[in-house]
Amino acid sequence: MAAEKKPWAGRFAEATAKSVERFTSSLHYDRRLYRCDIEGSIAHATMLADCGIITRRESNAIIRGLKAILADMEKGKFVFDPADEDIHMAVEKELTRRIGEAGAKLHTARSRNDQIALDVRLYLRRELDNITVLLVSLQKRLVAMAGREIKTVMPGYTHMQRAQPVLLAHYLMAFAEMFSRDEERLLDCRKRLNVLPLGAVALAGTGLPIDRRITARLLDFPAVSPNSMDTVADRDYIAEFNFVASLCMAHLSRFCEDLILWSSDEFRFAEIADAYTTGSSIMPQKKNPDIAELIRGKAARVYGDLFAILTLLKGLPMTYNRDLQEDKEPLFDAVDTVKDCLAIFTEMLAHTRFNAERMYSAAGGGFSTATDVAEYLVKKGVPFRQAHEITGGIVAYCIKSKKSLDDLTLPEFQSFYAGFDEKISAAIKLKNSINARRHKGATAPAEVRERIREFEKRLAEK
Ligand code: ARG
Repeated sequence: MAAEKKPWAGRFAEATAKSVERFTSSLHYDRRLYRCDIEGSIAHATMLADCGIITRRESNAIIRGLKAILADMEKGKFVFDPADEDIHMAVEKELTRRIGEAGAKLHTARSRNDQIALDVRLYLRRELDNITVLLVSLQKRLVAMAGREIKTVMPGYTHMQRAQPVLLAHYLMAFAEMFSRDEERLLDCRKRLNVLPLGAVALAGTGLPIDRRITARLLDFPAVSPNSMDTVADRDYIAEFNFVASLCMAHLSRFCEDLILWSSDEFRFAEIADAYTTGSSIMPQKKNPDIAELIRGKAARVYGDLFAILTLLKGLPMTYNRDLQEDKEPLFDAVDTVKDCLAIFTEMLAHTRFNAERMYSAAGGGFSTATDVAEYLVKKGVPFRQAHEITGGIVAYCIKSKKSLDDLTLPEFQSFYAGFDEKISAAIKLKNSINARRHKGATAPAEVRERIREFEKRLAEK
């Protein structure tokens, strides 16, 4: 059988080699854009008729044909021909096969260069909204957990050393803050993404009398892109999204790292339910936090997706180059991975219990209220540096005599600074240490509750 003629074959004397068809095709992954491709083509055909470039009858035939193809694809009844280069060719070829000459007019005043930019923008716009929904439900889960853990005291760490006692609620809300910034970044990315590229055509626009505002309105774009060359060369929105996805994965990964540590026998701060852990094929006693580990691992591949895009763009001459076809797999992978991870993480969190007693007793160790001793002295008028020095001496004394700050008597305190009074024993209690930090952003329960309320209010509107 003779190879099928390509839509661009006019100037070619030979058929494309099979190996080249296989090598250049993106159909096996860009077919996921079929809905966006058809949606864009329907708007384009409508605009062409509105502008008198094709007749209304032709436009209607195109739209009917496209809708029928879409229905077949939705039902999984459409048979893709692997010899087709990409989703655009697959749809257009089938349309022309079904409706004849009118189908061959669809690509008027359009190039695959602006068409692919449109498809990806439509696809990503929808996925940004889906990811936002996932981020919102994760924040809701964190806020609800924080509300329940408002009395749970845990050791806060710096350098992985016990530093100061904090509320577990404060810890959980720290992650709510990160995910709310991820949500904001998605929204910001959406603003720049939400611009109609169609009409840039190959790179220079068209001599035909199109009206891009019509297409923009039909596809719900608030603006049309201002420079046709930039439009077909631009993949900033993919780089931006992959960065936002990477940072979101970093946040998930850091949370997972804590949960992995906290699940260890050494910590026993947290227990992930059996249904959300896995066992070992050799060690019968094992219960492993594999979901958390996999999320930590998957952060690496999303970073890879970001670097693939950045590297793809850096040496490209203006404007469109076929290299840009390589933008889709890293984008799709980042979208799929971040969605998957957000969903399973939120579910796992709902099945994670914290061990308040373990956390409380760990919070008391490591002289975690030493800063409270120093601040007590500052309130007595001692300059902070001196207060730090005095308290350091007290800690050294405790280490030498194997005592905790709580064990010290008032005379022992007074041997370091005469101005200590009996109030020092209250100042170094865990609860009081936490309650004392009552300014905006600090860990006192009233402050954390206030932030929880702000989140609840914002999230309730979503
Ligand atoms: N599959 C191509 C891509 O993803 C579509 C655009 C191809 N344009 C072209 N002139 N070959 O970028």
